[in-house]
Amino acid sequence: MATVADIKSALENVKYPGFAKSIIEFGFVKDVQIDGSACILTLDITSSAKEVESKLREDITQTLSGIVEEVIINIKKPEEEKQQSNSTSGKNIAPHIKNFVMVSSGKGGVGKSTTTVNLAVAAAMQGKRVGILDADIYGPNIPRMMGLQGREVEVIGNKAKPFRIHGVDVMSMGSLMQEGQALIWRGAMIMKAIEQLLRDILWENLDILFIDMPPGTGDAQLTLAQSVPVTCGVNVTTPQHVALDDSRRSLDMFEKLHIPIGGIIENMSGFICPKCNEESDIFGMGTCEALAEQYNTQVLGNLPIEPAIREGGDSGKPVVYFQPESESAKRYMIASQKLIEYVDQVSDNVSNEEIQPTTPPGVSACSTAGASTQAKSSNGGGCGCH
Ligand SMILES: Nc1ncnc2c1ncn2[C@@H]1O[C@H](COP(=O)(O)OP(=O)(O)O)[C@@H](O)[C@H]1O
Ligand SMILES: [Mg+2]
Repeated sequence: MATVADIKSALENVKYPGFAKSIIEFGFVKDVQIDGSACILTLDITSSAKEVESKLREDITQTLSGIVEEVIINIKKPEEEKQQSNSTSGKNIAPHIKNFVMVSSGKGGVGKSTTTVNLAVAAAMQGKRVGILDADIYGPNIPRMMGLQGREVEVIGNKAKPFRIHGVDVMSMGSLMQEGQALIWRGAMIMKAIEQLLRDILWENLDILFIDMPPGTGDAQLTLAQSVPVTCGVNVTTPQHVALDDSRRSLDMFEKLHIPIGGIIENMSGFICPKCNEESDIFGMGTCEALAEQYNTQVLGNLPIEPAIREGGDSGKPVVYFQPESESAKRYMIASQKLIEYVDQVSDNVSNEEIQPTTPPGVSACSTAGASTQAKSSNGGGCGCH
């Protein structure tokens, strides 16, 4: 007949899901009782995730199967996170995140990731609970820009825990893929990846999740907008007219997806000389004002080309946090403040009901040939990316 000590010793072999330590070492086993041929266990764990509980039940039952005839397991855990989102309709696969800000650009290289990082860190510095999701599957640069390169993702149950750095929770496609690995993404894969980045990451209750999107307007943008009610979009552009043409497509996409436009960041708007501090015009400053007017939105900020911004990106030390006295840091702080005000204004009225797919569940409206006729016949729903 097994004793309490035998049971506890056997339980030393049961690891807490995702960790090298056992449930005994963590102190999660609060009570062990023997009742005839049965063993009654009480555990008090720190995760509310269903996956953690079911993995524990499975491992404990298996470990004790040769020792006792029956195992009764009581698991106490924190309450599941309550829905915080103000969305009243549509779909939301991450309801404990209050606001989603989609950062987009018409093309790559205009400073989208740099802007995401600095706006997010600035919002955290202004007291918001902030996360960054790097959904740029083609060029995930956030790990480098936040100083996370080489850091291993911690897995709990079958979910991944975001990193916490510079006051922000961060998860990147780059941390989940092998470094330098090139992937060819097709429609259905993109949809799955975006959904998993929202559903299978252990995001805490956040005020704002900033999402660095791949450049352009495609499957990733559509999937994100259909999966969660995006509070607003931010467009990043450089001021040359060619860049503005691409920007229009990006702003049109926000409109098509019923995403309120939070504003435009005019990046590389002028050059601040590190020697004399004088600002000179290179690409044509101020051209975004007219664009903002056309889309009934605001310019959140004009960010100069400043070496400190690039250095901060390369070294993983965002300028807004590490060089708060720089001109760029001050402009990012103001831009973030304006954005937060906008988010607070529209947060209650955001819905993605009208852009839900009209295809059957699990079938992509973007890339599955069989579903395309049905998607196209809808009244503005379905896919705009053909
Ligand atoms: N305002 C700026 N001043 C100086 N360098 C910048 C500025 N904005 C972006 N950069 C640099 O330009 C490069 C491209 O920016 P990045 O944010 O990666 O663009 P994207 O995400 O749009 O591809 C990076 O090396 C970044 O550090
Ligand atoms: Mg980028």
